[in-house]
Amino acid sequence: MALNLETIGKRIGPMTRVYTWRDVVLYALGVGAGFDELEYCYEDRLKVIPSFSVGSIFDFLAAAGLDSGANLAGILHGEQDIIFHDTIPVEGTLTTEGAITHMYDKGEGKGALVIAEADTFHDNGRKLFTNIFTLFCRLDGGFGGEPAPKEDFQFPEREPDFVEKAAPQPGQPLLYRLSGDVFQLHVDPDFAKASGFAKPIMHGLCTHGYACRAVIKHLFPGEPERIRRFRTRFSKALYPGVPIETRIWKVEEGRALFRVVNGETGEVVIDRGIAEWLTPEELALRERSKGIRFDERVAIVTGAGAGLGRAYALDLAKRGAKVVVNDLGGARDGSGEGSTRVADEVVNEIVAAGGEAVASYDSVATVEGGEAIVAKAMDTWGRVDILINNAGILRDGTFVKMTPENWEQVKSVHLDGAFNVTRPAFVKMKEAGYGRIVVTTSAAGLFGNFGQANYSAAKMGLVGLMNSLEIEGAKYGIQVNAVAPLAGTRLTEDVLPEDLYERTRVEYVTPLVLYLCSEKCGDSGGIYTAGMGHFARAAVVQGPGAVAADEGAIPTAEAVAKNMKKIASIEGAGEFANAMESLAPAMEAFKPGKEE
Ligand code: NAI
Repeated sequence: MALNLETIGKRIGPMTRVYTWRDVVLYALGVGAGFDELEYCYEDRLKVIPSFSVGSIFDFLAAAGLDSGANLAGILHGEQDIIFHDTIPVEGTLTTEGAITHMYDKGEGKGALVIAEADTFHDNGRKLFTNIFTLFCRLDGGFGGEPAPKEDFQFPEREPDFVEKAAPQPGQPLLYRLSGDVFQLHVDPDFAKASGFAKPIMHGLCTHGYACRAVIKHLFPGEPERIRRFRTRFSKALYPGVPIETRIWKVEEGRALFRVVNGETGEVVIDRGIAEWLTPEELALRERSKGIRFDERVAIVTGAGAGLGRAYALDLAKRGAKVVVNDLGGARDGSGEGSTRVADEVVNEIVAAGGEAVASYDSVATVEGGEAIVAKAMDTWGRVDILINNAGILRDGTFVKMTPENWEQVKSVHLDGAFNVTRPAFVKMKEAGYGRIVVTTSAAGLFGNFGQANYSAAKMGLVGLMNSLEIEGAKYGIQVNAVAPLAGTRLTEDVLPEDLYERTRVEYVTPLVLYLCSEKCGDSGGIYTAGMGHFARAAVVQGPGAVAADEGAIPTAEAVAKNMKKIASIEGAGEFANAMESLAPAMEAFKPGKEE
């Protein structure tokens, strides 16, 4: 068989592998960990030895070897380079996909190099590591390919800074092979003899694991998650039971060179080792950048001086957003002059925590106020990506006592307020081709509440606004969703029982709203309830309905009465993407044979 150059660039995988903490510990024991490094062996405080990454994707390596077309009798694992992107979790599913990237010719009789590269992702969505394998194909040289690039590598001319001595057990390969590499050379004495060895030899990747432990122990003890790169060249076979020494030179902060030698003969068994690692600050930065972030995003939160709005603003800023903290600082019923204090306090809090924010004291209830709020974002940062329409007041009263003023005031803050801010923001979002808008509805609007006719009407009006904006915004990358929160704030202080205080903290609502504001969210047009850590989607649905007259005939009220059970049934109900779609059942019902 000859090297198959056609396989260069062809995808290998995806291959998946499920692993548990037991696999992690088994690997650690296989590469010599014990009570001294209990963090690798005890599920209670478990960390993964980074070299687990290569052992865990052995199938990919085997597939690359086979696909390459190389003469299998001559294949040796030549080099291994691993680039780490994230901390390896102690359990989960790994998905690996890659390709052969190069084939180099060392010349007739001198062999060839097959390079394969694979990325591995965890089921938490994070890319964990990239493996670059070099297979030394002893019997495939002279195929006329390009020569391998030369590498300049030099150990410092001084004694190593650290030397870690270890004594792999005579039975070490028997334990190590349980992690996946069950090749006979490491277990079967007859096979080993036939391959030219006196007895089964250590797995190169087992010694590699010893070296990885040694490097971590001396350079960033107890913090394997700081590793960034681990490169090795396998240079000589080693028999189990022979002591080894990992010799380490720290060449600069975050970088060391190392090699592993046979403790009896001094022969180098792993050569040209490179280890690189993150500083604690770099690690902290990486951790911070995980998950949902809003870096470079500009958010407007109305009514952000208190309650839910304040919590949204703080969390958005903590995750990198620049925030316009809007609040006119009025009383619970919207009366009074207002005050700049509440918005200023939230801005100060954000800035003190290292975030970016500006205050806006305009009322959402006027067109000019809405324009000024959006202008604040544009003038300060030149964009607006996120808008949370949250400002709110209450003016409750039974319907008979509801004054036109109380009706108007509540409507003007909630419903008109959302229009006033959203319209100028929508224009900017449309220009930018991106936007996330949240409107704040309420269970009172969705399901009704005694004494809140004004509030309920305004809150349901916001659902209507959202439904149409969702459709208009879709082609500009603007998503609009509604949240119906439940939280212990000034608005609900006389409604919610005191003993529920802890569970109704605003922090139980914010995660959903932040998600809706994020790039991760691909949904638009949803109504979500959020409170006490419970989240759900509410929806406007329509039942299958019924036709109450013969085709074409005008139904009578009596016919409706007769069919009312069917008409009112919500069983088998469905949602519609828009008003046109909702007409389909009526159109369909007009077809012959459907009449009652
Ligand atoms: P809150 O009273 O603590 O906060 C509302 C904020 O909006 C206040 O800081 C207020 O000064 C500000 N505001 C009022 N009128 C404004 C205007 N014209 N312009 C700018 N800012 C104005 O109330 P909470 O509970 O945080 O309410 C936030 C939103 O959540 C409101 O829309 C409310 O109707 C809604 N909601 C709250 C529920 C809850 O359980 N807390 C339940 C259902 C809905």
